Amino acid sequence: MIRFADFSRIVFFTGAGLSVESGIPTYRGKGGLWEEYDYESCACQRAFDADPERVWAFHDVRRGFVANCEPNEGHRIIAHVVQASPSVHSVKVITQNIDGLHQRAGSSGVVELHGSLWRVRCDLCGRCKENLEAPIGDRRCACGAWRRPDIVWFEDLLDPAVLQEAADAIAACDLLVSVGTSGAVSPAADLPRIAVARGAMCVEINPEETPVSGLYQHHLRGPATKMLRELSAS
Ligand code: OAD
Repeated sequence: MIRFADFSRIVFFTGAGLSVESGIPTYRGKGGLWEEYDYESCACQRAFDADPERVWAFHDVRRGFVANCEPNEGHRIIAHVVQASPSVHSVKVITQNIDGLHQRAGSSGVVELHGSLWRVRCDLCGRCKENLEAPIGDRRCACGAWRRPDIVWFEDLLDPAVLQEAADAIAACDLLVSVGTSGAVSPAADLPRIAVARGAMCVEINPEETPVSGLYQHHLRGPATKMLRELSAS
């Protein structure tokens, strides 16, 4: 039986499945966001350059929706592992999610591989700041250019410093718990391979098998909250 208390440096590698129990749909599969929306018209730089208002309208809907969702028990278990298990020395959350629910549950130092729904940036003058409005008030930067969501859209590159921070934390962990990700999007999906190569215990939480399930020694097939509760049992 795997328990958090038997490890000292834990990395949680999370995806959209963790936020399902908060009411936020996943991206792929039945009911997924990319079934309803075409990323080429709302989640890539080309779409933004062609029609920024339309892309902002899509993101304003998402902001409004997510603002009304709450972190679930899974987010809270992850945020409180160190307090709940004194033998655990450190916890690092590496997420592909942009919803900010880890932080709202109390996690700090979260590595957001795909950026955040709650930051905006200006590619002209470089200003990047938190913005929690839903809908966003001013879509223009003080310099006059368009602000864009600070999200890694399709065809964007991940920030190399963020990727490195994630890789370093994974290289140093003795337990990696993947929660609710399809493993379909690289380079994020390749990160758990570092833990495998370093000999860490790797656990996948997902109700379904994924293309990367073979990487993991242990599979917990069920919803994130229930499976995280099992791991946190003392
Ligand atoms: P996906 O939508 O690709 O996958 C979600 C996974 O969650 C699936 O494997 C489901 O089986 C699983 N799942 C569903 N319900 C669950 C539950 N209650 N508990 C645990 N797991 C559950 O989402 P991601 O892998 O996160 O990019 O997608 C990766 C990236 O693709 C996202 O970050 C996003 C998207 O395009 C950006 O937003 C930039």
